[in-house]
Amino acid sequence: MKYIIRHARTRDLKAVFALYQSGRNEPKHGENDYDFKSFRKYVGSSKVDLVVACKNKSVVGYLLAYDHDNWGYLDSICVDPEYRREGAGQALIDGTIALKKHWVMIELCYDPTDLKIAKFVKSAGFVSAKKPMIFKWMYRARTTPHR
Ligand SMILES: CC(C)(COP(=O)(O)OP(=O)(O)OC[C@H]1O[C@@H](n2cnc3c(N)ncnc32)[C@H](O)[C@@H]1OP(=O)(O)O)[C@@H](O)C(=O)NCCC(=O)NCCS
Repeated sequence: MKYIIRHARTRDLKAVFALYQSGRNEPKHGENDYDFKSFRKYVGSSKVDLVVACKNKSVVGYLLAYDHDNWGYLDSICVDPEYRREGAGQALIDGTIALKKHWVMIELCYDPTDLKIAKFVKSAGFVSAKKPMIFKWMYRARTTPHR
């Protein structure tokens, strides 16, 4: 199935925001606490790239990435459940790389216990970063009781 992959336009934002919020029902997709106004401001930043997959002129998926000049960080990707496993996710990644010609790489991090996403990112050509990256992912666990 063919999808049109292009930069989002203002008129796409409501459909993208609906998909973005739907991530709330898919816990491993992340926690999205933006309201529409804040979301619109966020994606309007010159450092944020919002790319959409369209079918029959409707938005069926999006990819949100940070532009770090010569490389990109894939912050979020989501395809409408009705259109999954038809190549839209893969097309969004391929299409974003095609649009962002100056990026030498696109990076992402994901929860490795999410086997579906693990399969998807491998299938989309991502490999484990074995050399030192610009950013190292670190976390600090809570040591005091959670209230
Ligand atoms: C992850 C996601 C974007 C994939 O989109 P998609 O359009 O269904 O992906 P594709 O059709 O391009 O899949 C390409 C390949 O990835 C793998 N894959 C994708 N979804 C998979 C799943 N649920 N289980 C196992 N493998 C999967 C398969 O190898 C697939 O190829 P195949 O269908 O020929 O077997 C979509 O499932 C989604 O929106 N999930 C919810 C949001 C999310 O978790 N985003 C990621 C973190 S930000």
